[in-house]
Amino acid sequence: MQSDSDLAIRIENLWIRYRTTVEAAPTLKSTIIGLGRKETRKRQIRIVEAVQGFNLDIHNGSVIGVIGANGAGKSTLLRAIAGILPPTEGRITVNGRVSTLLALGVGFNGMLSGRENIVLGCLAAGLTREQIAQRYEVITEFADLGDFIDMPMRTYSSGMYSRLAFSVSIHMDPDILLIDEALSTGDAKFKERSFAKMEELVAQARTIVIVSHALGTVRDLCTEAVWMDKGRLIERGEPGEITDAYLRFVNVAARPTALEDV
Ligand SMILES: Nc1ncnc2c1ncn2[C@@H]1O[C@H](COP(=O)(O)OP(=O)(O)OP(=O)(O)O)[C@@H](O)[C@H]1O
Ligand SMILES: [Mg+2]
Repeated sequence: MQSDSDLAIRIENLWIRYRTTVEAAPTLKSTIIGLGRKETRKRQIRIVEAVQGFNLDIHNGSVIGVIGANGAGKSTLLRAIAGILPPTEGRITVNGRVSTLLALGVGFNGMLSGRENIVLGCLAAGLTREQIAQRYEVITEFADLGDFIDMPMRTYSSGMYSRLAFSVSIHMDPDILLIDEALSTGDAKFKERSFAKMEELVAQARTIVIVSHALGTVRDLCTEAVWMDKGRLIERGEPGEITDAYLRFVNVAARPTALEDV
């Protein structure tokens, strides 16, 4: 049994609710007539319970893979750990510097070049001018975007975008690294490189939480896996066992296509 001082993240009875609107009794006709005229349609408030009474202790140095179906609440959980989404109920305690690489978009400005966004990302992470100067080249090199580094990020492909995001977040010296699906959009060469970099971070006993549908990555890289469904924790344990249990549940055989993103 490890003591509380080993805890990187403690999640206690976490609930996250989204408020959203849905159109009351839509028909094809009303949808067509209403296109582009949102204000004329009858709308109802709907509450989505994305995370429901979730408890999890994550120890320093663990590499946790979070798996589960689309809409299970994985990204919501990660955003809450990152402090981007406040808990509706419950508590999250984080010990250490967090660096996040959330699914496309958080933090970068599409009008600015890759270079400018690196500086922005570093400033947002609280780095000093000297620290930025030191890391700038390494980040650029790792992302390996060629001329695109000087183009506005709105012109990037989604893979280029996540390469830069990945490169910035791993070079922030985080105690805790949060990653949402990031490895899956890079090309084969970049995937290989980021996997190696992740192994390096794992070896340095950083705490890492990875949300992924690439079950093979979860098996190879993680020390533990957490299976989430409908906002709840279903099972936690050894990655091989948890991914198997999840595959049995969704009734898919452990073929290569189920293990990796295709
Ligand atoms: N901004 C939002 N407003 C309203 N509902 C949302 C919002 N974001 C997510 N949801 C809902 O919350 C639930 C959990 O979504 P979430 O994105 O956390 O799932 P996920 O496990 O990351 O799924 P995926 O594997 O598809 O990425 C879903 O029902 C989703 O529709
Ligand atoms: Mg998600």
